[in-house]
Amino acid sequence: MDFLIVKVPKGTRDIIGPEAQAFSDLERVARYVFSLFHFLEIRTPLFEAVELFSRSLGETSDVVEKEMFTFTDRGERTYALRPEGTAGVVRSFIENSLFAKGGLNRFFYMGPMFRAERPQAGRFRQFWQIGSECFGSPEPSLDADTVLMVAQIFDAYGVHPFSIHVNSLGCDQCRPVYRDALLKYLKSRESGLSEESRRRMAKNPLRVLDSKVDGPKLADAPAMKAYLCADCQAHHAAFLKLVKKARLPIEENPRLVRGLDYYTRTVFEFVSPDLGAQSALAAGGRYDNLVELLEGPATPAVGFALGMDRAVLVRLKKEPAPFFLTNQPNLTAMVIPLFKEALEESFLLAQELRKGGIAVPPVMANKKLKNQLSLASEMGAAWALLIGEDELQRGSVTIKNLKTREQSTMSLAQAISFITASHPLKADA
Ligand code: HAM
Repeated sequence: MDFLIVKVPKGTRDIIGPEAQAFSDLERVARYVFSLFHFLEIRTPLFEAVELFSRSLGETSDVVEKEMFTFTDRGERTYALRPEGTAGVVRSFIENSLFAKGGLNRFFYMGPMFRAERPQAGRFRQFWQIGSECFGSPEPSLDADTVLMVAQIFDAYGVHPFSIHVNSLGCDQCRPVYRDALLKYLKSRESGLSEESRRRMAKNPLRVLDSKVDGPKLADAPAMKAYLCADCQAHHAAFLKLVKKARLPIEENPRLVRGLDYYTRTVFEFVSPDLGAQSALAAGGRYDNLVELLEGPATPAVGFALGMDRAVLVRLKKEPAPFFLTNQPNLTAMVIPLFKEALEESFLLAQELRKGGIAVPPVMANKKLKNQLSLASEMGAAWALLIGEDELQRGSVTIKNLKTREQSTMSLAQAISFITASHPLKADA
């Protein structure tokens, strides 16, 4: 609208109606899958001290170098809107001594993240992630579990197809050896590299492989796989065996280095052919040093985050699937007070029906019966429930089947169980 002076900020948008519903559906599917895997929820602040992110994600990561929204709190401290969820969860894990109980600590989260990126299809400045973090074990089966869980969320939500790119970034023992070999190679190519890559080379040469401009020119660069130490090799092989056994569409990708610095060993990315340039649906990996780096006790960890905006984008391109039918109330009933005094009783009846999983449009008084009935058929309602003077006196309701036009009168309690029992999902059960 041209007359609007104040518009939605660049890179953000309003999510309305069917798209908002698709977000909620994805959240519900994810919660269900997380419960199958016994994860607990965690909610951390939307902003944190800026150094939490610079220390965790790495000074040379794009996110820290140029994408954080920062602000000063009354001139005292600099904060950043969270660009991702892992750093905050790790801070909370340490600050709340969640490690004290020992064993595995597993959390999931969902919510908005903020990055001042150049907006394009599937890339926003405020975007939503669903993610998980699992603390307390270096076992490759937990890396595999994470990948399995993400795949199950996409399967249940109806995001198909996808492929899963995987790689190992090694550990403190073997990565420095690889880093030296890569640096030697990059130096031999230095004149052909962009200024940004030359700058990255000095600080973090692995990130040069990640460069959109130079990455493709470096096809013959040494690969981490050839440099993995015996332990990292065994870890990666065990991880691959598990995910392949689960028949996941795994592709080994030696060029996958990831944009955030905290990763060790396993890294993965879920890629969709239905997205354009921004093809990553989800990503994650192991970060065995991060808890210690942030001054917590050494604790191995692995996690992921999926981009909700992108999953929804793909989902809405597909045919409506049974998922949408089975997870939305697909039986609508209209409750109609036939005179003003019947409003409260009708309101309560509507409420009871909604608790029973039946969709009920708002109950309105002072509307003509004829108009209400045509609204009911417009909304695809199966039933109309009418409360007139007689019904109000007797504590009953008249139920009208809007298809057959048959009607009968029964008590309120009977009506509630009759309608909820006619829900197709209940009937199937
Ligand atoms: P990430 O790769 O930066 O990883 O982001 C994960 C996912 O978030 C991406 O694959 C993408 O789907 C989505 N995403 C990222 N940026 C945007 C954007 N500007 N607009 C829309 N979607 C976006 C992480 O954030 C790590 N914290 C994942 C992790 C958790 N690793 C270990 N634990």
